Amino acid sequence: MAYRLGLIGYPIKHSLSPWIHQNLLQKAGLSGTYELYEMNPRESFSDHIKQLKEQKLDGFNITVPYKQKIMPYLDVIDKEAEAIGAVNTVVNQNGKWTGYNTDGVGYLRSLVEAYPEVGQDKKERFLVIGAGGAARAIIYTLFINGFATIDIANRTEKSGHLLKSEYALDLTTVLSLPDAEQVVENYDVIIQTTSVGMKSTASDAIVSLKSVAEKSIVSDIVYQPLTTSFLQEARTSGARIHYGHTMLLYQAQYAFELWTGNRVEIKEMNQALVNQLEG
Ligand code: ATR
Repeated sequence: MAYRLGLIGYPIKHSLSPWIHQNLLQKAGLSGTYELYEMNPRESFSDHIKQLKEQKLDGFNITVPYKQKIMPYLDVIDKEAEAIGAVNTVVNQNGKWTGYNTDGVGYLRSLVEAYPEVGQDKKERFLVIGAGGAARAIIYTLFINGFATIDIANRTEKSGHLLKSEYALDLTTVLSLPDAEQVVENYDVIIQTTSVGMKSTASDAIVSLKSVAEKSIVSDIVYQPLTTSFLQEARTSGARIHYGHTMLLYQAQYAFELWTGNRVEIKEMNQALVNQLEG
């Protein structure tokens, strides 16, 4: 069979997902297509979804601004996606749509792939910067995978506290960004999950890493630019770094696995994606 896959969102013209999934299809030895279904937010979302249903895709991804909006249209929502409150992957089985969220799992896979020692004893102390959608997915996944210390630093502390109580993160400390800056040396893994550092805000600072510990892993989910100023500072301070584009690859790997049952080794796609992003 030829898989029919796709992406909904807006704007998505520059999405890397078609490139990634066409590579995954090829590596898995499967035939299929991955098409873009751009849905203008000024038009009726339910009409768009009705048309999408008629396409009978085997599966599709959902990106901004529809990760929550898609939820009422699903027949089943996986418990992880339900807890995260957002769906980025739908599997169609005989017309029944099931929603998943692959962001948290993708993030954790990418981290462990780069640093296999992470999670050996689950004693790592994590600092997550941000309390938005990406942070929700990452924190939830870390928590259900048994990591006990996950502190949250956010510009708006209240959002951090809400997340802590919603997930019942009893051991979590919520910090302001300036307070987090004073204690960065206490963490084994520091994850930047906000959009700060993207090309448009590339010079904005979020938390200074001058006093980060050398053995720490510093991670940024922003991947344009590939090396954000946050990662640059981490590197200058001697910490180990973990790139955002790898999360993109591994969340796609997991989505592809949900659609096709194939877990494709994607290590060698890493350099090719770096070339795409730099080119
Ligand atoms: P996403 O779904 O991509 O995570 P989001 O839900 O809008 O995006 O979350 C944005 C996160 O980035 C929030 O933690 C936000 O902080 P607030 O809760 O204080 O809004 C954080 N954020 C965005 N811009 C920021 C900035 N300029 N400085 C600090 N934090 C910022």
